[in-house]
Amino acid sequence: MFTPSESPQFPESVLTAAAHPDPYPYYAALLAYRPIYREHRLNLWVALGAQAVSEVLSSALCRVRPVAEPVPAAIAGAPAGNVFKRLVRMNDGPFHAKAKPAVSACLAGFDLAHLTAVARREAAALARDLISAERNSLDRFNFTLPVQVIAQMTGLPPDIAARCATLTGDFVRCLSPLSSPAEIERSNEAAAALLQVLRDELRRPQHGGLAMHAERLQSLGIDDLDAVLANLIGFMSQTYEATAGLIGNTLLALARDAALCPRAAGDDALLRRMIEEVARYDPPIHNTRRFVAQDGMVAGEAMRAGDQILVVLAAANRDPTHCARAHVFDPDRPDRSSFTFGAGPHACTGQTIAIGITAAGIQALLTHGLDVASLASPVEYRRSVNSRIPLFGGAA
Ligand code: HEM
Repeated sequence: MFTPSESPQFPESVLTAAAHPDPYPYYAALLAYRPIYREHRLNLWVALGAQAVSEVLSSALCRVRPVAEPVPAAIAGAPAGNVFKRLVRMNDGPFHAKAKPAVSACLAGFDLAHLTAVARREAAALARDLISAERNSLDRFNFTLPVQVIAQMTGLPPDIAARCATLTGDFVRCLSPLSSPAEIERSNEAAAALLQVLRDELRRPQHGGLAMHAERLQSLGIDDLDAVLANLIGFMSQTYEATAGLIGNTLLALARDAALCPRAAGDDALLRRMIEEVARYDPPIHNTRRFVAQDGMVAGEAMRAGDQILVVLAAANRDPTHCARAHVFDPDRPDRSSFTFGAGPHACTGQTIAIGITAAGIQALLTHGLDVASLASPVEYRRSVNSRIPLFGGAA
């Protein structure tokens, strides 16, 4: 029987692969075995092939949460759970059907020129601090910039946006199965604080940009104010880890190819193509999950209600039947397509925003003289089941 996990250089399992130094040969070996298979040891289906991943993500039998546990037990009834249960990302059915177009229209309404200007300004300020400080403040840069920009784009003033970045870091801990009870508690406190920040801002006598976005979400179909606030927090939490990882993995790609750095520094279009290729080749999000709601065929396999599927987006990105020269890093590839931002009804609505913030961040770091080559030394990745976020010095 095929047992790829016995190879010493492979990760212990698909659940530790995202944070492994090089999980891609392992994914390739699994994919060569089967594009979708049952991992009995973990009681999971694992989908890795491009076709299988597409079919799972668009299957009418699959849900984003287990039917019996719409909110993780650890946070049900607590502030973090009350935000979680209203997120478009965590719902299917009628709520998702009305909330998704509202969220998509709201994000599509962000003025990209303004977003670039805000991102460049914030990135320059953070980069100045960083260059004069320790190496590990690069982690702070990567985690802070994306949320600061999104919070300002939703109409929050810069000082409050900075606070939101810290609170969001605590809030997202509730999304990881690896979190400790103390981290869950901090996540609940952060959720309550984020809700309070948004409510206070909405109560301000002068109607700010936040009120405009909240009213827009309501007029587009999310009529309940609690759901509006939850999804505004969702903009920040969806941004937080994934965009930090995209900035970090782009820095690593630059560090590993000396020729790319000077080219990317002076060519914004090339830099964006490079970031898109990093998103395909070494993505910040490696997998997501689906839960089978009723017995039936999913991606050609007979599944049972209650089955869980690990959808390995990062493996599908390198499926040779989907992508030519899949294991080659090529910013100029003409046929780029990837699963990093999902697919089907739950596909990400923030791709353009994430790439814009990442480009502004990298540009600022290069302009302020970050020694990119020094980052090529082995890095650790943040402990995570689904994300791949390099840490350049110390835990974040
Ligand atoms: C590198 C950055 C990002 C990556 C890799 C990423 C990836 C993803 C993925 C894979 C999904 C789908 C999850 C699933 O189907 O299970 C998703 C959903 C989503 N993303 Fe992103 N995302 C990023 C940044 C952002 C940003 C900046 C925003 C908004 C400001 C955003 C907003 C959303 C929303 C609202 C959803 C839920 C869509 C739905 O459930 O219908 N994302 N993202």
